Amino acid sequence: MIIAIDGPAASGKGTLGKRLAHHYGYRHLDTGVIYRAVAYELMQSGHDLRDEAAAVQAALELDPEKFGNPALKTQEAGEGASIVSAIPRVREVLVNFQRQFAADPPGAVLDGRDIGTVICPHADVKIFVVADPKVRARRRTMEARARGEEADEAAVLADIIRRDERDKNRPIAPLKPAPDAYLLDNSQLDIEGGVRAAIDIIEAVRAGRLRG
Ligand code: DC
Repeated sequence: MIIAIDGPAASGKGTLGKRLAHHYGYRHLDTGVIYRAVAYELMQSGHDLRDEAAAVQAALELDPEKFGNPALKTQEAGEGASIVSAIPRVREVLVNFQRQFAADPPGAVLDGRDIGTVICPHADVKIFVVADPKVRARRRTMEARARGEEADEAAVLADIIRRDERDKNRPIAPLKPAPDAYLLDNSQLDIEGGVRAAIDIIEAVRAGRLRG
């Protein structure tokens, strides 16, 4: 089974994806990490984030061993990822890696922006996670502070809104729900509540009670 989770920045889809993968015994891929890794390579080597040739090269040389690098979690890497991910050739290069991950048994949970629309249009269940931008900014700020980083909530909110706009309005693989995605608004839910709501959706789809 393939579970596709999409949603905007800091909507909680990463945590949800990890928890669902654990619940079902599947593998989990946070696809944002891929774009963050590409952006980080450019930043480290002093390249401009809009340098297409350098970005494509970094995508071709993607090393999953480096996905655990804490530097990929920063706001700067997220902002960089939003820029490199708008380059069509970078996305093309990364499609196969994601599809291969999804196809390997026993099943997979992938979260990102275009999993239900482009990467896995035939996913068994698609969930589009949304949350109020202010709630997302609050959560991201708390996460950053917990990592010992300084974070100004107003600046985080501005960053989230800017990233949402860029991710939604790019011509290739924009952030949008697949027509057959189930919407999960977790503005008022804690992590456990979000996980339960997602499992309810998945189980209902599996039982054939919902159209999906
Ligand atoms: O989910 P995240 O914050 O780690 O994602 C970082 C950026 O990467 C996001 O702003 C847009 C891009 N991204 C994408 O274009 N497609 C994906 N499937 C995942 C992330």
